Amino acid sequence: MKLCIALTKGRLEEQCLDYLEQRAFDVTPLIEKGRKLCVETDHFKVFFAKGVDVATYVENGIADLGIVGEDILTEYQPDVFNLIGLPFGICRMALAGIPTEEAPEGKRTIATKYPNIARSFFQEKGESVDLVKLEGSVELAPLLGLADDIVDIVETGTTLRENGLVVKEEFMRFSARCIANRSSLKVKRSLMLPFIEAIDKESEPRHVSSNL
Ligand code: PRP
Repeated sequence: MKLCIALTKGRLEEQCLDYLEQRAFDVTPLIEKGRKLCVETDHFKVFFAKGVDVATYVENGIADLGIVGEDILTEYQPDVFNLIGLPFGICRMALAGIPTEEAPEGKRTIATKYPNIARSFFQEKGESVDLVKLEGSVELAPLLGLADDIVDIVETGTTLRENGLVVKEEFMRFSARCIANRSSLKVKRSLMLPFIEAIDKESEPRHVSSNL
C-alpha cells in the first residue's frame, strides 16, 4: 500500500519542495518531473494540483495527505483533518486598491478569488458591497475598472506594488498546512505517521525510510 500525497502547484510549489528537501526528503524526482503531474516511487504516489483541487482530492480520499494554503481551507471549508501548520506560504488576506484620499461613494464593487472570505469581512464591517468572482490576476480589476477594490492574498507585495495598488486593510494571516483524509488517518495511520513526523516543523529533520 502506498501513501498518496497531493501537493499544490504554482505559488506554493517551490517553497514546498524546498521545505521537504530541508526535512531530508529526496525531492529530485519531483523537481525533474517536467510536465508530468503524478510521480510514483516505491512508497509514495505524489501529484500536483491547484490548491482547491488538492483539498477536493484529500476530502474524497484519493489523496491521503495534502499540502495546501490555509486561504483555500478558509474559503472552501473542505471536510478534511487540518493536521499541521507549515512555516512557508506565509501570506495575508487584504483589501487593496488604487490609492485614494476620497471615501468611496455608494456601494463598492469588490473583485476577489475568495467570495466567502470577502463576504464575511464586509458583513463584519456592516458594509454592503457587490462581489465579482475572478479566477486569477485579480489586481487587474481596479486597473481596468471592473471593481473599485480587491480582496486577495498578499505575499511579497510585489504584484500590488508593480501594478500601482496599495493595501488598505489586512485582516487574516495564512501559511501552508498539511491536511489529511479523515478515514486514511485511521486506516493508513502507520504509513502516514513517519511522513507527518518528518514534516512537522517542531521535530528534528531526519531521514525517513522512504524518500519521495
Ligand atoms: C497570488 C495572489 C496575488 C499574488 C500575490 O496570485 O492572488 O496575485 O499571488 O503575491 P505577491 O504579494 O508575492 O506578489 P497567484 O500567483 O497565485 O496567481 P493568480 O493571480 O493567477 O491566482
